Amino acid sequence: MKAKGGLLLTAIVLLAFPVGALADEPSPTVLANTCFSCHGTDGKSPGAMPSLDEKSASYIAQTLREFRSDEIENTVMSRIAKGFSDAEIDALAEQLGRK
Ligand code: HEC
Repeated sequence: MKAKGGLLLTAIVLLAFPVGALADEPSPTVLANTCFSCHGTDGKSPGAMPSLDEKSASYIAQTLREFRSDEIENTVMSRIAKGFSDAEIDALAEQLGRK
């Protein structure tokens, strides 16, 4: 009864997922996906947009905080940065920064 086992597994995974999604820990991969539409896949920009993968994590974290507090005036990034907590900014910087 392979198919039934598969269905049961699917049901378990589907039931378990929302619980995981409610966890407070931000998923760095999911957070970073929102940046790729402008900064290029994995932060490697193909055009005029700054590449993020060349920057250090500390630079990205500091710059995002400066956008968020309007220390750096920038309409697009200021609005985006305001959506993230300190923990999320650190997770993003770690995920995107130069390895
Ligand atoms: C709507 C397009 C857009 C999205 C989405 C976006 N950015 Fe940006 N970002 C920009 C633009 C445009 C600049 C250049 C700002 C400038 O030069 O003043 C920039 C600049 C930056 C900089 C500064 C780079 C430097 O060279 O100093 C960082 C860091 C950054 N973005 C991080 C992020 C992160 C992290 C995300 C995802 C959470 C993100 N951005 C999502 C458009 C975007």
